[in-house]
Amino acid sequence: MTPHGLRRPDGPVKLTGRAQYAADRIPENVLYAALVTATIPRGRLSSVDRDRALAAPGVAAVLTHADMPRMELTSSPPLGQPSHPMQDDQIHYEGQPIAVVLAETEEQARHASTLVGASYDIAPAQTDFTASEIADDGNPDVVVGDLESGLAAAEAVIDETYSTANRHHSPIEPATTIARWDGDQLTVHASVQGISFAQGALATVFQVPADHVRVISGFVGGGFGCKAYIWPHTLITAAVARVTGRTVKLVLTRANSFTAHGYQPATCQRVTLAAGSDGRLTAIRHHSVNVSSALGDYLEGTTGGTAWMYASPAISLKVTAKNLNRAQPTPMRAPHEGPGMFALESAMDELAYALDIDPLELRLRNEPSVDPVTGKPFSSRPLRECLLSTARRFGWDDRPRKPRSLRQGHELVGYGLAVATMDTFRMPSSARVSLRADGTIVVEAGTQEIGTGVPGVLSRIAADVLGGDPGSVEVRHGDTSLPPASITAGSMATMSVGSAVHAAATELRDKLESLEAGDEPGHAGRLKRAGMASMEAEGRWEPANAIDGLGRPAGYSMHTYGAVMAEVRVDADLGLVRMPRCVGTYAAGRIINPQAARSQMTGGIAWGYGQALLESSEFDAGLGRFVSKNLAGYLVPVNADIGELDVSFVDEPDPHASATGAKGIGELGAVGVSAAIANAVYHATGVRVRDLPISLNRLL
Ligand code: MOS
Repeated sequence: MTPHGLRRPDGPVKLTGRAQYAADRIPENVLYAALVTATIPRGRLSSVDRDRALAAPGVAAVLTHADMPRMELTSSPPLGQPSHPMQDDQIHYEGQPIAVVLAETEEQARHASTLVGASYDIAPAQTDFTASEIADDGNPDVVVGDLESGLAAAEAVIDETYSTANRHHSPIEPATTIARWDGDQLTVHASVQGISFAQGALATVFQVPADHVRVISGFVGGGFGCKAYIWPHTLITAAVARVTGRTVKLVLTRANSFTAHGYQPATCQRVTLAAGSDGRLTAIRHHSVNVSSALGDYLEGTTGGTAWMYASPAISLKVTAKNLNRAQPTPMRAPHEGPGMFALESAMDELAYALDIDPLELRLRNEPSVDPVTGKPFSSRPLRECLLSTARRFGWDDRPRKPRSLRQGHELVGYGLAVATMDTFRMPSSARVSLRADGTIVVEAGTQEIGTGVPGVLSRIAADVLGGDPGSVEVRHGDTSLPPASITAGSMATMSVGSAVHAAATELRDKLESLEAGDEPGHAGRLKRAGMASMEAEGRWEPANAIDGLGRPAGYSMHTYGAVMAEVRVDADLGLVRMPRCVGTYAAGRIINPQAARSQMTGGIAWGYGQALLESSEFDAGLGRFVSKNLAGYLVPVNADIGELDVSFVDEPDPHASATGAKGIGELGAVGVSAAIANAVYHATGVRVRDLPISLNRLL
């Protein structure tokens, strides 16, 4: 027996290969597309030589911007990049699509794409991003109190610059689009994190009513943010299908993926922390700049968590983008607070040493009673419980304070702490729930299963309300013909879609209970007595008191929290870092499915380990391109890298957040880990590394 709430109904179909991903589909009478991309970072496409490609086996067409229909711009739903592909001859970044090859097989299309010739008028490009990018000019985005007097009042001041690397999402399933037009009706199979975003964007771009666009996304082979917004490859596929009148399928190559749908941009962050001898902060400054494209600003909101983390009479926050001839960045799990908390929590560790206060104690002393920027109460903030629980399970009290004081054989041992936080985004969702006379429950919602286990979460919510077994719930998802639901991004699917399912199931329960009781017990008995084969109800959830499109609440500071402690062992001669164990305690409102939640957190810790020690997409400013567009040159952790993970939750329902008391959880686990590891590395070695990843050359 599987314990209640611990099912993954999507597990068997995935394990047996029956789950259908867009990239797996073999449509009838399809043309396969392959992209030809710019090899220079800036200039003009002066000519395209198609002859060799057209002569290759199976090739049906080679299309350039001259063959493309006009595309309308839209900002809502959001496009990944703020201008459209293949609409003119201008080149803004290396990797930009300049032509599409269509052929009878995928292999023929890819081969022929290598035969397309392109000539350019090369223009000077700006591609360089260095660690000294922080400019102090311009007004901060957030100002509280007076920074200068906060600095003057301090006993200790930490003023350091931290940097994080370009990182790529690299989901197992490369982004895929299959598009077919029937008149002005468009059907798209797409590997996306938001079918409703795709539907809305495609309708606007091609100027057809939204209900003429159907987007289907059965299972998505990972996204991590790169499939959240709508990117050129999706629009190009739909455009090419319209031009040719054929069904067209485009699966991005792994190399395409490095420039086609964003990456986490390199950041450079200056953090200034000032505190009195009692450890209480008197000033916080966090100014940050990140890589963006020449097409427009993508802002990596690194200062997000700093805005609500610690009490301080003076706070100054600022984020800017540096526009370069590089592909457009995008959110990557965990965006914003992910890179940002590395800098803030490293600086807090430095401050703890400067004041000779235990890093845990320093955080407890700076717990705010209300949001330090907005003055709003916290909807719930059990961070103290998270810190104390993590410390107890980790054995923090046994830690000697002095760096480089623990050694086992040739290994230097260190313990590090960081806190985690994420913003809480809430978007409306709707769902339909029905009960059949045989007792089965059907949940329908236009949500996506991107690997997080959404069907299991929705089953449990419906079964809890209707009093059934989660195992008897069938979940239908991934189709815009179902009730529209939120995107699966910003950690909001469980909260938003779950709340809609809760509403629909509650409505259905009330309707069922207005029927007379039958001979057989329960709701199904009532249906039978009434002579009904099934009954359904729809539900919609809107975040209460939302003040913006992301559902931030009017009256509360609403976030999720965690506390992470890592033990590292550093080879004294080689600088090799291992993490034998990591303990995390997290608070994200009510935990709906403990197994799925734990899985998100352990995955997040592994992901944070990658951020700390391995991941970096090296960019060659001279060539204006990422050096290696494959996974051979991009290190990610494997199971053997990850030691013992101890994850638990402070299960405190947040009634202000959602109908179920749940808050967004998915990305929280990927926050704080890199700082905990960097702080542990300092504790082990006495070497403070402020630039991620902590590679051997930086440590030795
Ligand atoms: Mo997540 S980076 O919002 O998909």
